[in-house]
Amino acid sequence: MDSQLLNKAREYELEKEKLIGKEDRPAFHMTPRVGWMNDPNGFCFYKGEYHMFYQYYPYKSVWGPMHWGHAVSKDLLHWEYLPAALAPDMPYDSFGCYSGNSITYKDGRHLIIYTSVVKNKIDENTEEEFQQQSVAIGDGREYKKAAENPVITTDMIPEGYSTVDFRDPKIWKGKDGIYRVIIGAKDQNGLGHLLLYVSDDCITWKYKKVFLKNDGNFGTMWECPDFFEFEGKAVVIVSPIGMVETDFEYPDGNGTVCFVGTYDEETDTFTVENHQAVDYGADFYAPESADAPDGRHIIIGWAQNWATINEHSEDDSFFGQMSLPREISIKNNRLYQLPVKEIEECRYDKVEYKNISLSDEEVSLDGVRGRFLDMELEISANDATEFVVSLAKNKENKTDFIYKPKESLVMVDRSMSGALNERFHQRCAKISSKDGHLKVRIIMDRNSIEIFIEDGRSVLTTAITTDLDAEDICFKADGSAIMNVTKYSL
Ligand code: FRU
Repeated sequence: MDSQLLNKAREYELEKEKLIGKEDRPAFHMTPRVGWMNDPNGFCFYKGEYHMFYQYYPYKSVWGPMHWGHAVSKDLLHWEYLPAALAPDMPYDSFGCYSGNSITYKDGRHLIIYTSVVKNKIDENTEEEFQQQSVAIGDGREYKKAAENPVITTDMIPEGYSTVDFRDPKIWKGKDGIYRVIIGAKDQNGLGHLLLYVSDDCITWKYKKVFLKNDGNFGTMWECPDFFEFEGKAVVIVSPIGMVETDFEYPDGNGTVCFVGTYDEETDTFTVENHQAVDYGADFYAPESADAPDGRHIIIGWAQNWATINEHSEDDSFFGQMSLPREISIKNNRLYQLPVKEIEECRYDKVEYKNISLSDEEVSLDGVRGRFLDMELEISANDATEFVVSLAKNKENKTDFIYKPKESLVMVDRSMSGALNERFHQRCAKISSKDGHLKVRIIMDRNSIEIFIEDGRSVLTTAITTDLDAEDICFKADGSAIMNVTKYSL
């Protein structure tokens, strides 16, 4: 198949990426080859490499007709760009190739399933839109859309669901050899449900049942579902639109929710036992997860937020970054996440301090500064009511990490980071520690701060656009506190 649109995108990205210097990008967070990027798509380990596709508009750094960008990596931290994998070049996906997922097909080829979107003009003032699911099969480099596309059409949606909000398939193969997809769909009340379809060959699909329902407590539409079984539990992750703030667990707006429970394959029944935010920071959305060949399960999200996408110029050479990939574990029905162990290979220049006493005088420590680092803090709050680390700091700017031991609360405040959007400056998370001791790991790259609390029990991801010369790090406590610091450059 020779696609003019795909060739055009490939020529464009090859030419324009030359204008982006290595120093303009984060050191170990994935960014688009050129132009705009949102959700991770089709994240998987296939034929000896991790593959990452992404929602991609190469021609400007704003959302546009969605293509799929493509990159591969051996270590999840350094990505090699490949030519764009999909362009919106068919009548059934001319409005965009939206998010989806991938799997090793039964014959060893690589199969992508994605939402193909089409908008038809009915008359001067009316358009109709269809979101349907299509597949493309390939070898890890080139992908060919199936002649049978779209393979899950709007007439296969059960009654009462919208044909305009039916997207983001997550695919897996059951132990019984049957392929399954769950797809986000909006019911008459505007709530997102996950619909389950089954197939023997990924081409002919049959609707089976509602896999999981939004009971009204989790926003409206559910985007980008993920599903996996790990460490004896089953996990469903969704990214709801329109969450309403609840007791420090979920902030307003687009968010992420992780349901931990059990799954019975015979009846395709998922039973929820617990739920939590996947990330408590301002910038984490639409995560996908994949099995690593060594048995780990890795999750990665878009480290941006829809509410703040208009704060850059559309002529910037690129926009968008992924989070650090994280290894998950499940303890007491809770999702834990830690940076992938590969990051340890990137560490150099260890600096260590023990028993540093803090008070309300701001302290900086020799060798503890920079914008590319991995830093662990062990804090003993003593009688302090607040402990603050100011990061990416210079005279004008800073982003604060705040620990309030008496309230068992942590907070990230980037209102001074140079960001514009009022609503998105502060994010909180409840912690489990009640005794004033807290372990915190902070990973900073060019445009992000990711904070892992209590060995990954909660994570806060924050994108920052602060100038790179804001490299200072300062500590203080309101009262007396003691801390140990171990810091590496990355
Ligand atoms: C989520 C999302 C998906 C959709 C894609 C379009 O961020 O809205 O639901 O498939 O982005 O780019």
